[in-house]
Amino acid sequence: MKISVIGLGYLGTTHAVAMAQLGHNVIGIEPDSSRVQALKAGNLPFFEPGLEDALRQAISSGKISFQSHHDDLSAASDIHFICVGTPQISGQQSADTSYVFAAAGQLAAVLKPSSLVVGKSTVPVGTARHLITKMQEVSGFVPRLCWNPEFLREGTALADSMLPDRIVIGSDDPEYNQALKGCYQTMIDQGIPVLELDLETAELVKVSANAFLATKISFINAMAEIAEASGADAVRLAEAIGLDNRIGKSFLRTGIGFGGGCLPKDIRGFIARADELGVGDSLAFLKEVDQINLRRRQRIVWLATEELGDIKNKKITMLGISFKPDSDDLRDSPALEIALRLQALGGVVTVHDPVALENLDKKSSGLISEADLSTAVKDADLMILGTEWADYKNLDPEAVSSLPRIKTIIDGRNVLNVDSWQIAGWRIIAPGRNIVNV
Ligand code: UGA
Repeated sequence: MKISVIGLGYLGTTHAVAMAQLGHNVIGIEPDSSRVQALKAGNLPFFEPGLEDALRQAISSGKISFQSHHDDLSAASDIHFICVGTPQISGQQSADTSYVFAAAGQLAAVLKPSSLVVGKSTVPVGTARHLITKMQEVSGFVPRLCWNPEFLREGTALADSMLPDRIVIGSDDPEYNQALKGCYQTMIDQGIPVLELDLETAELVKVSANAFLATKISFINAMAEIAEASGADAVRLAEAIGLDNRIGKSFLRTGIGFGGGCLPKDIRGFIARADELGVGDSLAFLKEVDQINLRRRQRIVWLATEELGDIKNKKITMLGISFKPDSDDLRDSPALEIALRLQALGGVVTVHDPVALENLDKKSSGLISEADLSTAVKDADLMILGTEWADYKNLDPEAVSSLPRIKTIIDGRNVLNVDSWQIAGWRIIAPGRNIVNV
């Protein structure tokens, strides 16, 4: 099939490469010409395991090309995927849908009536229907529109796109779905379930799935607060409740909480949309989900203060600053925010990360960025594990022991083997756990 993918951020780039892997002929459209040049040269503008190799294969097989204009789009493709971002509006809770409307408007100006438009961006419920009206004003006909949310996770983006748990398609007409199902036929043949829904339900599937995942994480982090107050262990608690099949063990990892470009802004945008719909009370609990999550960041600052006394001039090393491992994404990163708060308290904070250091911007200029792990931990008064990269999980506490001045580590992700760190002479502090250090 001839496909265009509009917007080459995380979602769009991964989707474009995945479609090329399925054998389609893909044109990627992106207004940022430097990004287009990078992609044409086979260079990913972000870190994502396995995706750059797949991009290069798609380029060399002639299945994918990139451009920054829409001119020949109508002739060049039959299905147009809209994959632009919907960030949180600065100073507000709502999602900014202006990029979706701009992309759809540009597309409507060149669209053929027979072509299919497929929205993949995460949008507030009701956006797709509004988009149909706006596109019709430009094109003069009702566009054939489907909403097809994406559930990929950073770090496993390509695998999630190629082998999703489900394919969700929302539209006003089952006929529109046929072409889209053809696009995914290889996946459907593998047994991946397809849910054909109305537009509103399809839009809601995405935001409500993210809200549920965020709620699960904040639930276990609320239990961590209870554990801290009562002497229980939230990690063992998660293990025990997660063995109940009805609950399940995923997304019950307690620690410094969720971040990134999706869960935080999606729950806030969802709350804002419920307010607009006059049913704000329905999602009032998500405000607490957000608050529990943000409290975990302050909890680490508090634990560091309890350990070091006055933070001023203390040397603190943050291991990992990306919002999750296998990603260089710093958007709403809990580890980075904790590092900045400790720095604001006068701490001398060194940050280490396997891939994300080069994304630090001027807001982070007070942090000492150190690419060598041994140097990063050498003079530390305190180490904090902020992102559970394999490099840190596999750290040999004996080997690290010879380096720091004071042997205390806060395991912000609850991934270290407490016994082996303690045997190596470390004090280990783990949020939500009642660990006795002798
Ligand atoms: C999330 C969803 O998982 C995807 O399904 C969705 O497609 C994506 O948002 C999106 O909306 O585009 P992502 O943000 O890449 O994916 O990462 P997650 O794996 O969901 O992790 C989010 C945050 O939660 C991370 O900071 C992670 O460290 C944290 N987390 C996750 C926990 O603190 N505990 C857990 O048990 C799981």
